[in-house]
Amino acid sequence: MSVFILLNCKTYDEGTGSNAIRLAEACRDVAESSGVEIAIAPQIPDIFRAASAVNIPVYSQHVDGAGPGSHTGKVYVKSILEAGAVGSLINHSERRMTLADIEAAAEVLKHNKMKSVICTNNIATTAAAAAIGPEYVAIEPPELIGSGIPVSKADPGVVTGSVDAVKKINPNVKVLCGAGISKGEDLKSAIELGAVGVLLASGIVKAKDPKAALYDLVSLI
Ligand code: G3P
Repeated sequence: MSVFILLNCKTYDEGTGSNAIRLAEACRDVAESSGVEIAIAPQIPDIFRAASAVNIPVYSQHVDGAGPGSHTGKVYVKSILEAGAVGSLINHSERRMTLADIEAAAEVLKHNKMKSVICTNNIATTAAAAAIGPEYVAIEPPELIGSGIPVSKADPGVVTGSVDAVKKINPNVKVLCGAGISKGEDLKSAIELGAVGVLLASGIVKAKDPKAALYDLVSLI
């Protein structure tokens, strides 16, 4: 099974503009030397620069289902595709969407052969997300986000429950888990719980040495 790590830069200063590019380069270096797939989700205006600078997958932090036309302020899938994104987060806990909007966003990504990562907050929403058929669902209990307390330790049941729910609904969907993940042991436990990888942010983006933190993250797999 191939392990997947997706680093979300959020709107941290440490992950914005030129800092996003430095993080992308660190992800690339660690991916190259470890053989683990590491992708980055910078802010949308940084996608083009990141995708031009590195050959690792670049994701958007959000996309809308809106097509071309009169949709001021929406994120149109074609703009992130042409900027170099290979996929997008959908429904991140900090950017919630309605179920209809989640489905529409996943649909426009699929139509453009791009990958969807639908974020969920519990087993029930994970099941609903799996029914939409994204590439990944990412289970992230909101109360653990940014806490430094890894979901794989604090709430392993929500990860195993999500994995089981997804298997029943659509076994092609892969499960990521996130919230408080930062260390090699957190990633290892996530894999042991049945996830294929992790979605993470602060533990790497805000680390004193993000590259060293990434090396630690992949050290036990
Ligand atoms: O998208 C990743 C996320 O919400 C988890 O954040 O800072 O707990 O790794 P963090």
